[in-house]
Amino acid sequence: MKIVANRTGLAEINQDVLIVPVFEGETPRDSENASGLAALDHLTSGAVAAVFDAGEITGKPDQWVMLHNVGQLSAKRLMLYGGGNREGIDSTRVGRLVGAAVRLLTKNRGIRSAAFLVTRSLEIESHVQAIVEGALIGQVSGDLYRSNNEQVSKIESLELVSELSEPPNFDRAIASGLAMAESTNLARMLGYEPSNVLTPNELALRAQKMAEQEGLGFDALTEDEMKLLGMGALLAVSRGSNEPARLIVITYDPARGEEKPQSSELIALVGKGITFDSGGISIKPAAKMEDMKYDMGGGAAVIGAMQAIARLRPNVRVIGLVPASENLPSGRAVKPGDVVRSLSGKTIEVVNTDAEGRLILADAITYAIRRGATCVVDAATLTGACVIALGETRAAVMGTDQRLIDDLIAAGEQCGERLWPLPLDTAYGEIIRSDIADVKNVGNRTAGSITAGYFLKHFAGSVPWAHMDIAGTAWFEKERPYIAKGATGFGVRLMTNFVLNRAAK
Ligand code: BES
Ligand code: MN
Ligand code: ZN
Repeated sequence: MKIVANRTGLAEINQDVLIVPVFEGETPRDSENASGLAALDHLTSGAVAAVFDAGEITGKPDQWVMLHNVGQLSAKRLMLYGGGNREGIDSTRVGRLVGAAVRLLTKNRGIRSAAFLVTRSLEIESHVQAIVEGALIGQVSGDLYRSNNEQVSKIESLELVSELSEPPNFDRAIASGLAMAESTNLARMLGYEPSNVLTPNELALRAQKMAEQEGLGFDALTEDEMKLLGMGALLAVSRGSNEPARLIVITYDPARGEEKPQSSELIALVGKGITFDSGGISIKPAAKMEDMKYDMGGGAAVIGAMQAIARLRPNVRVIGLVPASENLPSGRAVKPGDVVRSLSGKTIEVVNTDAEGRLILADAITYAIRRGATCVVDAATLTGACVIALGETRAAVMGTDQRLIDDLIAAGEQCGERLWPLPLDTAYGEIIRSDIADVKNVGNRTAGSITAGYFLKHFAGSVPWAHMDIAGTAWFEKERPYIAKGATGFGVRLMTNFVLNRAAK
């Protein structure tokens, strides 16, 4: 989608559709025209006021009306879209409004070009960025392998129209929005891919292609290399599969080719990359097992975030790590009761082979610290318990450093990828004490998301670390007005914002 900022008058906009957001309590009959609706009504020869007078739109969220060939507008259609209350509008709401409008326009309507009226209070940089994000994210859906897809069109160009006589320069906001949205969509496409296509090796190849395009450093450790290093936890998970595991390593260095003052900080982003989770020997029931192709949602978010970081160039070094593996049962698979030695040297009793995410993350976190990480953030579809606790609305966050947790929560609030904290009291650690080894990989039925987090804490040591459980937020069971069902790319924008904010401090 091409995004352009335009200075021509409303009447001259000649796209397939002009989208105008409408807020509650504002009408074309307002004496002061503060909403701009009176001017629009004039251009449409009273068509807009007629819609309001008929009560067909009041500005409530997700109400919409489509008018064709109205008045002096050159645009083929005028779409009025309800945005709720103008007071307290934030970039999350702005993005969702645009995403919802774009989704309606591309379903069954064949619309290819659109203009969006950036009305008063939407013209600030973060909102313009959100408009771009909403539009691009609204366009993507998961039917990657449907042979004929004629009902759905793509909007090829989106023009941003300002009402102001001196419109601000939107270029930077547009560039940020494109970087965030394209990277979120990259993560979403990876999430939609079935596991027969997206094997650990294929995930590494996709990450490599991105890294080469963006000028990032890239490496993907093989099983032989991991064996030499002693990554017994990660390799225990991949044993049962014929597909070899990979440890994807992507590096971003702002000093590349430049003489910038370099801080010693190195932020590690670690993402769970299980391309299919059958549960292994502790096999899962058949119902919904197909969904376990998105068990690499954390890894996809890290790959997406690294792309956005490469494009937005914050002044801090970042290392992205994605341990990638299948989790399958076989004659070679790790078995309940087996004890494995992790890269850290700590021994792990594998009581349940379906608690595999924490095993691969343990070695990846240790590896991040060996590479010099001064702070570690991981994202993982780690526990069903998290879906039960927080649903699809918020991801859980826990960790060893309150500033890090607070910064992640704030980064998420900026983009609508919301987190909620869980505690890590030492009492929870008792639940995963092993009789035979240093730690076991599952506890009892209680506090499942916390004991998973506590397990990871063993491997973070004294390095500030936080874990985000995105099991509920990485995949939507049902579509929303602003996004298709399926992969959400949750974490891409959050982690990118977090890195940008840290670099700016
Ligand atoms: N990938 C799953 C967690 C999951 C479940 C993600 C549902 C998304 C939706 C994870 O590997 C897993 O199987 N966790 C187990 C842990 C248990 C064995 C302690 C779970 O949540 O049941
Ligand atoms: Mn599992
Ligand atoms: Zn899993």
